[in-house]
Amino acid sequence: MAEVLPFERHEAAPEDRPVLVVDLGGQYSQLIARRVRECRVYSELVSHRTPVQAIRARNPRALVLSGGPASVYADDAPEVDPGLWELGVPALGICYGMQLMARDLGGRVERTGASEFGRTELNAEGGALFEHTPDEQVVWMSHRDSVTAPPEGARVTGSSPSTPIAAFEAPERGLYGVQFHPEVVHTPHGNEVLKNFLYGVAGAPPTWTAAAVIEEQVERIRAQVGSARVLCALSGGVDSAVAALLVHKAVGHQLTCVFVDHGLLRKEEAAQVIETFEGHFQVPLVHVDAADRFLSRLEGVEDPEEKRKRVGEEFIRVFEQESKRLGRIPYLVQGTLYSDVIESGGTDGVAATIKSHHNVGGLPEDVDFELVEPLRLLFKDEVRRVGEELGLPERMVWRQPFPGPGLAIRIIGEVTRERLEILREADSILQEEVRRAGLYRELWQSFAVLPAIRSVGVQGDERTYAYPIVIRAVTSEDAMTADWARLPYDLLETISSRIINEIPGVNRVVLDISSKPPSTIEWE
Ligand code: XMP
Repeated sequence: MAEVLPFERHEAAPEDRPVLVVDLGGQYSQLIARRVRECRVYSELVSHRTPVQAIRARNPRALVLSGGPASVYADDAPEVDPGLWELGVPALGICYGMQLMARDLGGRVERTGASEFGRTELNAEGGALFEHTPDEQVVWMSHRDSVTAPPEGARVTGSSPSTPIAAFEAPERGLYGVQFHPEVVHTPHGNEVLKNFLYGVAGAPPTWTAAAVIEEQVERIRAQVGSARVLCALSGGVDSAVAALLVHKAVGHQLTCVFVDHGLLRKEEAAQVIETFEGHFQVPLVHVDAADRFLSRLEGVEDPEEKRKRVGEEFIRVFEQESKRLGRIPYLVQGTLYSDVIESGGTDGVAATIKSHHNVGGLPEDVDFELVEPLRLLFKDEVRRVGEELGLPERMVWRQPFPGPGLAIRIIGEVTRERLEILREADSILQEEVRRAGLYRELWQSFAVLPAIRSVGVQGDERTYAYPIVIRAVTSEDAMTADWARLPYDLLETISSRIINEIPGVNRVVLDISSKPPSTIEWE
């Protein structure tokens, strides 16, 4: 009997059927998109001004309408294209999104005088969104107006003591609304509510995985660059590393990486980049040891902005020189992330001009390259997962953020070889001990700073006159605000005594206990 060959099935890529989060101006819109993706369903943020034709063209699996700051009856209240309700795609309205749904579709919204902010008890009364969650559950609310009549044909499925309509569902119309915020961690069952909507209601398969991202990006990169050569500047950070590895996986030796080592990296970082890329992944790598050039450009410079400027300019100069030597390369890899795309107005459907980073690795705008941006769809945590899947070492995947101008801005005053050496050693001890204590990943950043002062100490029988080292360790979500980390005393003691004992030229260790604002994370 002839062998029966199954038809080859072309599964739609997760990106082909996104869940679109319609941004109505709420502070959690981006978070909603991230949470949906954490459920392994691909999701993108779109502006509420997006015309329905553009939304239909994306063939969305479902819509989520975000919260927003306004009252739906305010003059400038964000609206959606009414055609959205006719798409025949399940829609989940959250907070303002729910109220808009009610207002537009035959329900009513009023200022009842019963606002709710923060932790609230919700009584769930059946409904698809609350499957496998308790009847009584804690949710997180933030609203003044309330829905006082659900959309036509909807059934109320949740209430709180002061908001009788805290959730509704109209399955025949594909409408689902919740007054609370399932996306925030203060709603303990929020994730299950989202999953119920995504998997149960919208039938979205959980296929957005790191492996799927890699497969999709590899295909796209191949289609974009064909047989041409590609150039990538490595910084030692996770974004450029993951972007380079994706391109390497796609087109192998067509990629050349240039690693400009400005001599301002942390201890052993440069060696790690070389070992990982050249040694382990066998990526063609040009390593430019430019420490002398950068140090002489920094001679006598005390102003941090001036340091940044000089490091940035020198970086471009070195990079241009190297790329010229490599001959004509038409493509350049950039580690642009989805959050950069969003911040530069990408969700408005306008051509996104990417915000220019003040980072080293930021290249001049008039370069004659076509950009390859394989991380353009990814949030930072997804970049890390892709990095792990590609086999990037743990140290690189989980590296804390590090400023482009490196240690130069953590030395107050002039950058000299001697000071650089002191700071690098102190920083290395601090990192080692923070890692040993298992705290490295919990901290947003932890590092040492070298101020431009010296003070008296006594070591052995001798008086010393030496530098202090400042320990800076913070927790943060996004670097916009930060709190100083409450490091254990024992850890601080170990760090302090090691730094003082092991580094000549240091006789004091102090701890920075300021949060941001009013302080910043870096000292400069
Ligand atoms: P501040 O010190 O402003 O830092 O609280 C916020 C975040 O930005 C990083 N940072 C920089 N990153 N080039 C960079 O690429 C820079 O010049 C720079 N200055 C600060 C800082 O490490 C923190 O994560």
